[in-house]
Amino acid sequence: MRLTRRKFVQSMLGAGAAAGLPAAFSACSGSSRAITTTRASAPVQLFDTSSAVAFPKGFFWGTATAAYQIEGAWNEDGKGESIWDRFAHAPGKIKNRDTGDAACDSYHRWREDIDLMRAMSLNSYRFSIAWPRIQPAGSGAANAKGVDYYSRLVDALLEARIRPLVTLFHWDLPQALEDTGGWPNRDTADRFADYVQLVARALGDRVSDWMLVNEPAAFVDLGYLEGTHAPGRQSLLDFLRATHVVNLAQGAGFRALKAVRPAARVGSAFSMSPSEPATDSAADKLAAARAHAITNIWFLEPALRGSYPDALTFLPETAMRIKSGDMERIRAPLDFIGINLYYRTIASAPGAMERVAHAQDWLFPVKMEGGQQGPKTDIGWEVWPKALYDMVMRLTRDYNRPVIEITESGCSYNDGPDASGMIRDSRRIEYHREYLAALGRAIAEGADVRGYHAWSLLDNFEWTEGYSQRFGLAYVDFKTQQRTIKDSGRWYGRVAAENRS
Ligand code: FCB
Repeated sequence: MRLTRRKFVQSMLGAGAAAGLPAAFSACSGSSRAITTTRASAPVQLFDTSSAVAFPKGFFWGTATAAYQIEGAWNEDGKGESIWDRFAHAPGKIKNRDTGDAACDSYHRWREDIDLMRAMSLNSYRFSIAWPRIQPAGSGAANAKGVDYYSRLVDALLEARIRPLVTLFHWDLPQALEDTGGWPNRDTADRFADYVQLVARALGDRVSDWMLVNEPAAFVDLGYLEGTHAPGRQSLLDFLRATHVVNLAQGAGFRALKAVRPAARVGSAFSMSPSEPATDSAADKLAAARAHAITNIWFLEPALRGSYPDALTFLPETAMRIKSGDMERIRAPLDFIGINLYYRTIASAPGAMERVAHAQDWLFPVKMEGGQQGPKTDIGWEVWPKALYDMVMRLTRDYNRPVIEITESGCSYNDGPDASGMIRDSRRIEYHREYLAALGRAIAEGADVRGYHAWSLLDNFEWTEGYSQRFGLAYVDFKTQQRTIKDSGRWYGRVAAENRS
């Protein structure tokens, strides 16, 4: 199973907690319109999708992708090797021995991809830049061919009146930097700032909206503690160090970008999932607070407030290698908060025995599970639209109504073409309709949300799941690379054109 933000916390708990995980891959029987909760004594209808929800003028309707998941061309035009190239080429890491070598071939077919966006009337596109295309060995001068690729893409997007929303790091670290220590090595933060500045100089005359990193909580956990994502390390110490270095990188990257493009709008895309206590006990409520701190704001609070949130029994400053002056360095007054949200989390306190069994359970005493009441997508994630409402409202309250962009939300349903070649993915339409209803309510109640980006434009390489999970609004035939807009893509196009769902 693809490891996720949910897994981030489960991993801190060891095998005992993992035994209590929800069964994955239970096929969804169709999404219900009125989501109900059984935690209240009587079922409560949370979001009514029967009437249209209007969105603010100028709202951004987009899709999101990531370089390694769509580009292919893994060794063309001087691109260096990334940790994902190395990881996927090693046997046994990815389902069906899939790799991102060809992916959706967007490196060559980006014009077709822009045509899809035009056909869907979209006005924003979130994509990521592959660091090893720009700096093949992670430092030094820019590779002109790599820069040219993104430059052409940006020009064509602007020409199509689509805002480029650029992610600078979506998990494909140059392998050369992993060889010198990767994210646990402090130098990587400085390398990142140099890279950010190169890109900002090259594209910043046309790109004004940037995200520094994608889902830091996910990639440091999966890559350095769990070892199920690149680079595949399993070390509590490396993990703790990496969390701090990524926070340093966020601060340094923010300053580097603003130094050359002061007017740019700079944020990050955080994996978020509202945590609900499993029961009303004080212990479970504390667990839910801790779950929020580590999954949602471990990389946000340092940026906005220059401090780590209270998530652990104590902050292991020595193990994290926090140095004097660092808490100033990690500050970065982000211009907006990007939220990637798919589901909610149920938190409870582990028992005493669980706590003594593993160092990490003792350091971070929280047990987390996915919810069980909503339908499941094909990857096993619960559909729970209220999660989006809850998360947006919580940030709105806690951070004084920040600017928010929904930088990812979506669902894996593996519907393929029917006899007439149509992809009838009605469950995906229901998913987005319900999440948008939840978002509309948050906006009506005062949240400052500027855009929504469906994950994803295309079916693509879903990390350890390879090509087995289809999240796209457009279907990709991976043999021919032919793209076909699904019913959901057509529906989403109408939503974008009318600015209402
Ligand atoms: C998010 C990732 C994205 C994609 C979706 C399904 O966690 O940011 O790359 O894999 O999940």
